[in-house]
Amino acid sequence: MSAFTVAIDGPAAAGKGTISRAVAAHFGFAHLDTGLLYRAVGALGGDPVAAAQGLRPEDLARDDLRSLEAGEAASRVAVIPEVRAALVDFQRAFARREGGAVLDGRDIGTVICPDAEVKLYVTASAEVRAHRRWLETGGPDSAPGSHEAVLAQVRARDARDMGRADAPLRPADDAVMLDTSELSIGQAVERAIAVIAAQMVAAGLNPHPPA
Ligand code: DC
Repeated sequence: MSAFTVAIDGPAAAGKGTISRAVAAHFGFAHLDTGLLYRAVGALGGDPVAAAQGLRPEDLARDDLRSLEAGEAASRVAVIPEVRAALVDFQRAFARREGGAVLDGRDIGTVICPDAEVKLYVTASAEVRAHRRWLETGGPDSAPGSHEAVLAQVRARDARDMGRADAPLRPADDAVMLDTSELSIGQAVERAIAVIAAQMVAAGLNPHPPA
């Protein structure tokens, strides 16, 4: 199959990562979690612009990139235009590889791949996203007040990601909105697959997963 790009954007903890992995596996597409690029730049420390310009594949395999702290650090380095610019070519090359690609992030449909064949904007209310994060990070076993703290963190991250001058988080004009507040993971994945399959058919491609 030729190139076929699926851009999946949305705020933290809306379910984009889970949906992206599931649809990539379903259609046999390659998947790039672009948040990992910013997380690796934040985790490397030192000058973030130099870190982004010298980023190596092994930097993405670090095992400390999934924490809340790494997400915060990523969100802070992601406001720097030179950091974003250094990561563009890699993402665009990945998007146009043969056989189909799913990229998830904040600016894939708006800046990195404005011509993506499919654009999905996956979202959920701040309360639902904070609740999911809280459950992931210990839930009822975590410290008193932690629920409010996670909600405050989610809101602060939204404000930074949506409020930055360069490539702010927002849905592309032609993105399909997928609000997962009231959906199970299975339902959200099913809807995403239906949207992608319809676009594949429109592009003259076979939407059935490889045998
Ligand atoms: O999706 P994530 O939580 O791994 O992303 C971490 C941070 O990286 C996010 O808060 C903002 C930044 N980011 C970005 O600016 N652009 C992207 N395409 C992906 C992530």
